[in-house]
Amino acid sequence: EILDAKGLHILPGAIDVHVHFRDPGYPNKEDWESGTAAAAFGGVTTVFDMPNTIPPTGNAEILAAKHKIAAEKAHVDFGLYGLLGEDTIDNVPDLVKGGVIGFKLYMGNTFGKIPSPSTGAMLEAFEVVAETGKRISLHAETNTIMERRQTRLTQAGRHDPLAHIASRPAVVAVEAVSRACILSEWTGARIHILHISSADELRPLREAKARGVDVTGETCPQYLFLSTDDYDRFAGVIRVNPPVREKENQEPIWSALADGTVDMIATDHAPHTPEEKTRNDIWAVDCGFPGVETQMPAMLTEVNAGRMSISDYVRWSAFNPARTWGLYPRKGAIQVGSDADIALVDLGHAWTIDDAKIQSRSKISPWHGRKVKGLPIHTIVRGRFVMRDRTLVPGTRGHGRSVHTIQEMPAPDVRNADKTMKAVTSSHRSAENAA
Ligand code: DOR
Ligand code: ZN
Ligand code: ZN
Repeated sequence: EILDAKGLHILPGAIDVHVHFRDPGYPNKEDWESGTAAAAFGGVTTVFDMPNTIPPTGNAEILAAKHKIAAEKAHVDFGLYGLLGEDTIDNVPDLVKGGVIGFKLYMGNTFGKIPSPSTGAMLEAFEVVAETGKRISLHAETNTIMERRQTRLTQAGRHDPLAHIASRPAVVAVEAVSRACILSEWTGARIHILHISSADELRPLREAKARGVDVTGETCPQYLFLSTDDYDRFAGVIRVNPPVREKENQEPIWSALADGTVDMIATDHAPHTPEEKTRNDIWAVDCGFPGVETQMPAMLTEVNAGRMSISDYVRWSAFNPARTWGLYPRKGAIQVGSDADIALVDLGHAWTIDDAKIQSRSKISPWHGRKVKGLPIHTIVRGRFVMRDRTLVPGTRGHGRSVHTIQEMPAPDVRNADKTMKAVTSSHRSAENAA
């Protein structure tokens, strides 16, 4: 197929290691078809889906059923997280055999009401997963602190949006990140800290990395671009766990991306319906908003503004996620042919995000009305166009496959990953110079 890509930049498709596609369980919020269509429109070629679906992805049968649903509907590739809870520790070996990308452990309560394991159960869970070599991704917020504060705030009659933040101050995350890192160091389990929201979490993360703990971290566009200053404008729509924080937190998180303390950008794409998001209840559980489709435009806007280079963006959106979960270089690099996962973007395209036009079923977000510069025009997943000229390509439903089936193919040599990446990014630069 001949394609005129004049004026476009070729990027490795983004790997979003943190989405909630709600299938099975909440078809009114999202399903594998709408969620992966949103991914395709966002230049995202691989997603890792969280286990807080109904039923939660906590045993091999449920996992197999979810793999089947996803394989039938997905436009892009995917990995499925297994739930690591107090009751599912014994299922770890079967979940690994069933092809989970890794495990998700909820240290704090959020949507889906998954019970948080005690520290004792966490230690045991870490020991068991360490044996498998899989990585544990953590929702690092300490339940006991949050519940206590939430009770106090409710007793004090607080029902304003800021009470949601007050119930989850950054120390809730700092305590959880520190504890997770200590347990990782003790057991040898690899871990990943999800949705880093505050400057305060960076210290325990930096210190753990300096001690040689195998820990990676992600942040999300909401913590880089939004803050408590936006609460008045968006009210309940901006409610997310962990909450967006005071503006002073943004610069330190950008710096932590630049110095490698925070390894990657994910979105925590968490669709809910407009009715749920605008309900006048600050303790409502419908936290989060869609993001998989707008992450790349939001970040490319910063590339255009000169905050970082395209290679920085590729490192955070594709290379580091791929390397962390053992997918590099099959994913996270520019390839041609049947392995190509590519986003072709118009870096100069200025536009305004409109919730009414997004693919996600959740047409409500704090991204609405945001002016951005940069737009994926075509998205290619394993050599096939799934989104072309801003249109979903017919017949690509079900093209997406689980990365564990890809991982089972002969292993590429990843020992020289950094060197290869340098070659990729420098060829990027020469392409830019030539353009
Ligand atoms: O805001 C959030 N929404 N945070 C989470 O941890 C869960 C997510 C969801 O599933 O809605
Ligand atoms: Zn979470
Ligand atoms: Zn999440």
